[in-house]
Amino acid sequence: MTHKQIVTATINGELTEFLCEPHQSLLSCLRDVLSLTGAKEGCNDGNCGACSVILDGRLVNSCLVLGVEIEGREVTTVEGLAGWQALTPLQEAFVAYDALQCGYCTPGMLMAAKSLLDRHPNPTDGEIRAWLAGNLCRCTGYDKIIRAVRAVVPGTAVAPKTAEAPETADVLQTVLETASVDQVKEA
Ligand code: FES
Ligand code: FES
Repeated sequence: MTHKQIVTATINGELTEFLCEPHQSLLSCLRDVLSLTGAKEGCNDGNCGACSVILDGRLVNSCLVLGVEIEGREVTTVEGLAGWQALTPLQEAFVAYDALQCGYCTPGMLMAAKSLLDRHPNPTDGEIRAWLAGNLCRCTGYDKIIRAVRAVVPGTAVAPKTAEAPETADVLQTVLETASVDQVKEA
């Protein structure tokens, strides 16, 4: 029998303390302990990127990081990207460009794209594709995702095929479907 450890870390800007098993992954801690279910479990072995989060400014697969490893560190998950009243331009672009279908890969894609844009605000299409190569999507064929990321690069956006801007209610519905139940209750 293992003893749980207390971990203190800044998660989405809030100092957070939680208990976890020494062998428990950060992904499991986020989802099962902290009810932050935005990061998804796909392969659970570092191949799909669905579990992507940003740890101390670096993109990581949270299935490959132990929960105890984030002691004293800073984690941003997809829940930390925007408030409940307004999405980030990147999230808006994913909706406007139909860059998601089932949405399972979307939290990881958003975190990977954010990580790229934080480092390189003006990436080329090739750089976007290379950066997102670790994030698998079984639905979109990737082109719409690339266009959505490009849409937030100044001067390079291609207009989405759908002329109408997404209704706020539709946008929020998309977010809520990939957010944690607890956060929805609190909203
Ligand atoms: S679940 Fe972590 S990389 Fe697939
Ligand atoms: S939108 Fe379904 S896996 Fe990417």
